Amino acid sequence: MNMRLHWTKQTLIYGGAAVWGLLLISCVAANRAVLAPPQIAGATYVGSKECAQCHEEVTTHFASASHAKLGLKDAKGNDSSCEGCHGPGSLHVNAGGGRGTIINPKKSPETCFQCHLDKRGQFQLPYTHPVLAGQVSCVDCHDVHSGNAIRGTGTDLAAQNDTCTKCHTQQKGPFVYSHDAMKEGCVACHQPHGSVNQKMLVARDANLCVRCHLMAPATPSSGIVNIGNNDTAGNHNARLQQGTCWSAGCHEAPHGSNVNNHLRR
Ligand code: HEC
Ligand code: HEC
Ligand code: HEC
Ligand code: HEC
Ligand code: HEC
Ligand code: HEC
Ligand code: HEC
Repeated sequence: MNMRLHWTKQTLIYGGAAVWGLLLISCVAANRAVLAPPQIAGATYVGSKECAQCHEEVTTHFASASHAKLGLKDAKGNDSSCEGCHGPGSLHVNAGGGRGTIINPKKSPETCFQCHLDKRGQFQLPYTHPVLAGQVSCVDCHDVHSGNAIRGTGTDLAAQNDTCTKCHTQQKGPFVYSHDAMKEGCVACHQPHGSVNQKMLVARDANLCVRCHLMAPATPSSGIVNIGNNDTAGNHNARLQQGTCWSAGCHEAPHGSNVNNHLRR
């Protein structure tokens, strides 16, 4: 029987209502739903309180975590947030802890895919972070035990970019001539999981840039900036027939430049 649950924000299809040991999830934002977290043969749910006995360093801060706010419960109504990712904990607890009796999702994204089905597909697109190859993991970019799962969500965009530049130091800057687009975060131009476009870009052509830049004269109040001060829109359009905005000879330094104020190189 298919024990996997198909979760989307609005709808839910799950194989077999009689499957025992499912966790219930009830949160304000989403419809009440049932999820099938990872299974461990012979184990049953014990609730998050049990974990607190021995893993205080994790449980102390957990209330602030995105996944804590989901309100995951087992059939008895106990909070089972921890077991949503680690699997039912009875064998582990009865053994007094230790390794091999509970799931540690560190090395494999499979635990996450269990509920985030769509993400597997994103990591199979032509250009992706090598997560399936094990070189980059979900927790390199997401916090599971405290705070927002998406780092720097809200006002703190610097924190979101820091997540990326700890590995991609070249894009970190500071640059003599910075590109204000970076203030919108790396995700203004890149799909963090994967994309059909090279370099995981959001768009493969000028659409990437014209979202913020009009090539016609800018209106001061539009909030849209015109980059074509010394160039006419016609010239720019002609150039675009030859490649992208960031092709060789054009704006080769989309992240910022130390030598050219038009981000040419
Ligand atoms: C009686 C104490 C105790 C309880 C209760 C307990 N654990 Fe553990 N847990 C341990 C010990 C000890 C280890 C081994 C730590 C080590 O080797 O560094 C461990 C390890 C783990 C690991 C890492 C396993 C690995 O293979 O790397 C996870 C994950 C874990 N516990 C989760 C939980 C969860 C979730 C709960 C609640 C359902 C829980 N624990 C309840 C004591 C406990
Ligand atoms: C959203 C999924 C998720 C939830 C919910 C979750 N964990 Fe984890 N846990 C992970 C991942 C992923 C790792 C491996 C992270 C790493 O090593 O950086 C992990 C690792 C651990 C470890 C091993 C730490 C180590 O250093 O080896 C323990 C213990 C643990 N979790 C306990 C808990 C407890 C207790 C709860 C509930 C309060 C909990 N987890 C909730 C995903 C989760
Ligand atoms: C038991 C099911 C379950 C598991 C397992 C699970 N998640 Fe989630 N997660 C959810 C649900 C439900 C939401 C909220 C709805 C949504 O955004 O899809 C969520 C939300 C998120 C978010 C978005 C948070 C936000 O602020 O919008 C991230 C990022 C995330 N999960 C990452 C992970 C990672 C990484 C793992 C594996 C370590 C994981 N999840 C494992 C159920 C799960
Ligand atoms: C390279 C960094 C990175 C990796 C690796 C990564 N993510 Fe994300 N993820 C992000 C960023 C950044 C966002 C926010 C996207 C946005 O704001 O548009 C996000 C958003 C999400 C969301 C919420 C929005 C949505 O698309 O549903 C979920 C759920 C999620 N990631 C799950 C995962 C899972 C599961 C893995 C591992 C299989 C993973 N992510 C690996 C960076 C990453
Ligand atoms: C844990 C390290 C790590 C983190 C964090 C990380 N990346 Fe990556 N990134 C990689 C690796 C490894 C590759 C694959 C490099 C390769 O194949 O040459 C990669 C590839 C890329 C590429 C494609 C590069 C190319 O030449 O095709 C882009 C774009 C990128 N990452 C952007 C981001 C963004 C945006 C973030 C933050 C949301 C981020 N990365 C977070 C390690 C990381
Ligand atoms: C204004 C849009 C934009 C923003 C914002 C942006 N990038 Fe890029 N990035 C690009 C473009 C365009 C390319 C492709 C450049 C090329 O092919 O020459 C690229 C390429 C990359 C590459 C591949 C580098 C290489 O030499 O091929 C990495 C890694 C990368 N970006 C990481 C990041 C990180 C990390 C951030 C945030 C700190 C970020 N980008 C923000 C547009 C952007
Ligand atoms: C998220 C919005 C955004 C995106 C996407 C974006 N930019 Fe920008 N860009 C800006 C802002 C804001 C400025 C600063 C405008 C100013 O100083 O008047 C700027 C400035 C520039 C400048 C410097 C203008 C000058 O001559 O002084 C160039 C060149 C530029 N962008 C090129 C690009 C290219 C090429 C792309 C696509 C790869 C791109 N931008 C994508 C927002 C964006």
